[in-house]
Amino acid sequence: DLPARVRIYEVGARDGLQNEKATVPTEVKAEFIRRLADAGLTTIEATSFVHPKWVPQLADAEQLFPLVSDLPGVHLPVLVPNERGLDRALTLGARHIAVFASATESFAKANLNRTVDESLAMFEPVVEKARADRLHVRAYISMCFGDPWEGAVPVHQVVRVCKALLDMGCDELSLGDTIGVATPGHVQSLLAELNEEGVPTSALGVHFHDTYGQALANTLAALQHGVTTVDASAGGLGGCPYAKSATGNLATEDLVWMLQGLGIDTGVDLGRLTATSVWMAGQLGRPSPSRTVKALSHQ
Ligand code: HMG
Ligand code: MG
Repeated sequence: DLPARVRIYEVGARDGLQNEKATVPTEVKAEFIRRLADAGLTTIEATSFVHPKWVPQLADAEQLFPLVSDLPGVHLPVLVPNERGLDRALTLGARHIAVFASATESFAKANLNRTVDESLAMFEPVVEKARADRLHVRAYISMCFGDPWEGAVPVHQVVRVCKALLDMGCDELSLGDTIGVATPGHVQSLLAELNEEGVPTSALGVHFHDTYGQALANTLAALQHGVTTVDASAGGLGGCPYAKSATGNLATEDLVWMLQGLGIDTGVDLGRLTATSVWMAGQLGRPSPSRTVKALSHQ
């Protein structure tokens, strides 16, 4: 059975743009987010309140957030790794935050300069304070399937981190295939194991990168398991600066095309979304890798 409705969690402005070599002007980012909202997306991850030296592409978070924070009916989650990040986000009135953990030690070190347990300890006061302020808290778990340094990631490692984050009080989890190596059978076995260990499917979203062209197949496997939150990035923008083999996320257009064909409601206008990605591709100076964008825009 497939869900009647899927919530698309748009990450292009954050996961996409954090990986661009060129610096995208703040006003172009704001215009991108406004156009995504106009295309019907209602959850649009806007930026990250991380150390500007770690992710220079998003160093303009303070300037960008106020330009888009009044979009009606749109949630604008932001990444915060620590209390410093949370304070910055709260000052600007953010209501939805995301912390980001790793299932592997290698990536925790590369991305957060911490061990897995040290990073969980770093998130604890963040989640506590955010919940006291009634913010919505998402937690990403990176490297849920494979890791560029450690290879295949054992399911029990992922389960441990997921449980710790839920116990901490996070509202939802996003299972990250950071480098895009997952395949549908692996997705199904991870979801089944999480359920067996007491993690409900209703708390889970999926976050696929499309390195091996499996992101849509993996998404379908997750939908068949009952997952209803799917991360995607407009035009397939993205990657991760701290995981070299990562390419772009599942393209939102590819996702919407599949969901439309399955009769699943998303509220997204595919024509407007495609036009937005074509416009963004023009800003970035290279075509979108999304097959659906190519097909619909005759690029
Ligand atoms: P650190 O160097 O260990 O930081 O980095 P620290 O805690 O030792 O602090 C050092 C200095 O940084 C201090 O300043 C802090 O105030 C400052 P000083 O006292 O020396 O002047 N600082 C900050 N400044 C601004 N904002 C902050 C902040 N925090 C500390 N929030 C840290 C630790 C976590 C900060 C760093 O590792 C970091 O910023 N990492 C972010 C990496 C990142 O954003 N990666 C991409 C997102 S994850 C991803 O893409 C995967 C995902 O898409 C899912 C998937 O695909 O798997 C989500
Ligand atoms: Mg990602």
